[in-house]
Amino acid sequence: MRIAILTVSDRVAHGAAEDLSGPALERMAQEGLAAAAVLRRVVPDERRLIEAALAGWADSGEVDLVLTTGGTGFALRDVTPEATLAVIERPAPGLAEAMRAASVQVTPHAMLSRAAAGIRGRTLIVNLPGSPKAATENLAVILPALPHAVELLRQEGPPVAYQHARPGEHGVSAA
Ligand code: MTE
Repeated sequence: MRIAILTVSDRVAHGAAEDLSGPALERMAQEGLAAAAVLRRVVPDERRLIEAALAGWADSGEVDLVLTTGGTGFALRDVTPEATLAVIERPAPGLAEAMRAASVQVTPHAMLSRAAAGIRGRTLIVNLPGSPKAATENLAVILPALPHAVELLRQEGPPVAYQHARPGEHGVSAA
């Protein structure tokens, strides 16, 4: 599985904090998902930069799964879910629902994660919270479902988003 991890954090991006969640998720992905090479990037909590990183990876055709960490909470700068929802073509709410349902057993603060998940082309994008503990606990919940998710996205045939696209969308002409 080809995986990319996006750490969304003003403090990490500005060198005021070390990225602990990105490496922790990379280790889990390598052990639990047989991820060969894991791409990693850090961006501040800026919607445009998050969207560009997510869309760039998805549209490269070289990434099956993008995991983001950080920016899912209630702080005014937390915009990772909005950036994710802006670039996905099909929502995958079950992943976020499962993570929140499992995480409220750990802490009531899990209700404060606004994490989203969805599909762009053949790439699955999943938001995880920011702390290494929260990020890895949440990834552990969805880990067993991810191989089948990626397998389904790799199946032959045009992506569903294109089949249902209206003229003007995704380069579909009116003719
Ligand atoms: N989920 C689990 N499993 N464990 C946790 O410790 N922390 C929560 C939540 N989800 C947590 C969790 C907290 S404190 C917050 S504020 C939200 O995720 C959002 O985190 P973020 O703003 O770092 O993205």
